[in-house]
Amino acid sequence: MARVVVATAFGGPEVLSVVEEEIPAPGPGEVRISVRAAGINPVDWKLYSGSMGTAAALPMRLGFEAAGVVVGVGAEAIGPAGSVSVGDQVIAFRIAGGYAEEIVVPASTVVPKPATMGWEPAGGLMLAGATAVHALTATGVSSGETVLVHGAAGGVGLMVVQAAVARGARVIGTASISNHPYLRELGTEPTTYGDGLADRVRALAPDGVDAAIDCVGTNEAVDVSLELVADRDRIVSIAAFPYGSEVGIKMIGGGPGADPGTDVRNAARLQLTELVAQGQLEVRARSFALDDVAAAHREGQAGHVSGKLVLVPHASA
Ligand SMILES: NC(=O)c1ccc[n+]([C@@H]2O[C@H](COP(=O)([O-])OP(=O)(O)OC[C@H]3O[C@@H](n4cnc5c(N)ncnc54)[C@H](OP(=O)(O)O)[C@@H]3O)[C@@H](O)[C@H]2O)c1
Repeated sequence: MARVVVATAFGGPEVLSVVEEEIPAPGPGEVRISVRAAGINPVDWKLYSGSMGTAAALPMRLGFEAAGVVVGVGAEAIGPAGSVSVGDQVIAFRIAGGYAEEIVVPASTVVPKPATMGWEPAGGLMLAGATAVHALTATGVSSGETVLVHGAAGGVGLMVVQAAVARGARVIGTASISNHPYLRELGTEPTTYGDGLADRVRALAPDGVDAAIDCVGTNEAVDVSLELVADRDRIVSIAAFPYGSEVGIKMIGGGPGADPGTDVRNAARLQLTELVAQGQLEVRARSFALDDVAAAHREGQAGHVSGKLVLVPHASA
């Protein structure tokens, strides 16, 4: 038996509980992982809030990513980086039900955790990181170009700015003033969002902005991007549903009409661990115990998390 988080109804974080569930032995092509950290993402609460529909079966397991130690393998447990063995320290993405002490997942979702990376950052690396790689691929950001990133200090935003800097791009990022020092440390030029944003960006980049990545979904982020970037194919949003589609910018991810980018995101897993191993990508993570999942979600829903929130199911992790 293992402790797992479930949503028992559609609603707010009060519908979350921790229950005991039987975890099956891994079958062919599967691995069993003792979870050390599970990443929290806004989609997790969107799923049980009912805002994405109420057709999903209840109780609903949550969590699309987790990092941990392999404690069992089925036959032919082969992941993107090769065979998976008991004792391996790994990250699993994209999975279902990561909020748990133990999980059984397809070996195809499992990549080695970089040795230098702690469990908590590893638990929050993949969903935001793969989204960031997809956003940079969709906008074709390359060395020497200037990219505007809206919501630069959020979970996805921080991955976008670091991956863009690693590509040699100049990055201007919007964030609350308290996040500006950290963005500067990462090589990003920060500015505040809100009235006058387009003028502030023009002052920073008088020669123009080549591409824009919206990690927030506000009309302001879309409108300022349209004002500053001539080519709509070089503006991408991960959250401006449905406005972004209406104005003809690129929408990516799981929303209606968006490009899921499954191949790009799957390939991104090993690119992300490589960036981490090379010291070009770090994850700022803050952890909560499994029993505090509702508090973690309330904090995430307030919309000003800098970096990632993760759940740590074992007290010693
Ligand atoms: N399409 C996809 O594949 C995909 C993937 C992941 C996430 N998403 C979606 O993308 C959104 C962001 O996800 P996340 O995980 O990065 O969230 P997050 O970690 O909660 O970050 C949200 C960020 O938004 C910023 N923010 C809040 N209000 C703002 C405003 N009015 N203008 C500009 N920025 C503002 C905050 O910045 P400050 O704290 O600096 O104010 C915060 O850093 C969510 O809606 C999520 O569901 C989509």
